[in-house]
Amino acid sequence: MIIQPRVRGFICLTTHPDGTAQNVKNQIDYVQSKGAIENGPKKVLVIGASTGFGLSSRITAAFGSGAATIGVFFEKPAAAGKPGTAGWYNSAAFEKEATAAGLYAKSINGDAFSDEVKKQTIELIKQDLGQVDLVVYSLASPRRTHPKTGVAHGSVLKPIGQPFTDKTVDFHSGVVSDITINPIENDEDIENTVAVMGGEDWQFWIEDLKAAGVLAEGVKTVAYSYIGPELTYPIYRNGTIGRAKDNLEATVPALNELLADLNGVSYVSVNKALVTQSSSAIPVVPLYISLLYKVMKEKGIHEGTVEQMQRLFATQLYSGHAPALDEKGRIRVDDWEMRADVQEEVAALWQQISTENLEEISDIKGYREEFFGLFGFQVDGIDYEADTNEVVGVPSIQ
Ligand code: NAI
Ligand code: NA
Repeated sequence: MIIQPRVRGFICLTTHPDGTAQNVKNQIDYVQSKGAIENGPKKVLVIGASTGFGLSSRITAAFGSGAATIGVFFEKPAAAGKPGTAGWYNSAAFEKEATAAGLYAKSINGDAFSDEVKKQTIELIKQDLGQVDLVVYSLASPRRTHPKTGVAHGSVLKPIGQPFTDKTVDFHSGVVSDITINPIENDEDIENTVAVMGGEDWQFWIEDLKAAGVLAEGVKTVAYSYIGPELTYPIYRNGTIGRAKDNLEATVPALNELLADLNGVSYVSVNKALVTQSSSAIPVVPLYISLLYKVMKEKGIHEGTVEQMQRLFATQLYSGHAPALDEKGRIRVDDWEMRADVQEEVAALWQQISTENLEEISDIKGYREEFFGLFGFQVDGIDYEADTNEVVGVPSIQ
């Protein structure tokens, strides 16, 4: 089968198995090039393991410290004539590489918000690993069916209070225009977004894992958050999604209490803005990211998800000393993004940016490359005119 990208809005409907496999290999190579993470995790559960930060966390744990990993995600395998999702191919490629390296790797494909998938995961841990010593929580989803009430919550990306007008880019056409996003009309939008992206499900996972006795002494758990610059506050940190992140961060003390008798600890790590399937759907943010990439690449401090996660594990979570926390108790691997010199330059470019100078003063080219890269396209070393191998899947994905 010859597979070409087919884009609709923020998503690419097709994916390239060989390109996604190459991406996974590149991430593994990067982690290995940084050397072993001493005293790293050994038995790891990653919830949201198939793309973005979760996939890079899994790769870092496996290839940075030889960890056995169980990955949970929601993806689709290939069907007749139709490629599977990127996360499916990523996971198939990861399992192949891990297994070849002698590392245990199994995956569960299903709704992580459900009680059923939690039960299935616990059974698998009991059967194969006994206990886990790290739980990474890296879900990003537009909806969640609540396991106790059955209510289907949908998250929204809206400002709270006033309408928000600023520049945005259609990264395919390169047109920069003003966009106005109206604020929420009632608090239900906040409640729904918090229900989907807040900390409740993380807590449910930790409660269930603990009750089942599958958390090891000294267990760690980490979830990911974002803050970003003032220019995106109205749509991100002060908007509905920001309320969900506030809620996620506020879950940390409750989890610490829950884990205290195991000498366990929970963290939120604030990560850098990056091109992922989730972030490309947020208005304004992709334009900010293309300027941020431009500035950070020029300064030689650009990172992708794997560089971020390798740095998080090696210098914070498993550095041999306690992580450096901000005034709100969070790990900050967005520290380079938030550096004053970086933000000043991005803010100055933001004032000037237009359709006419987009290619020149932003890294929209890098944005597009990474976007297509998420789906396995425009990856170096892949012959896109050649027939791809049919990836049917990996038996251990349940
Ligand atoms: P992503 O879209 O690349 O990954 C989401 C993962 O969640 C995938 O593995 C997907 O299969 C899984 N998933 C979604 N719904 C599921 C369900 N119902 N059941 C099981 N698995 C499900 O997202 P990304 O960007 O890696 O986000 C992960 C976390 O990092 C989120 O909390 C996000 O807010 C945070 N973050 C993202 C930043 C960015 O710029 N992309 C920056 C800082 C934090
Ligand atoms: Na993820």
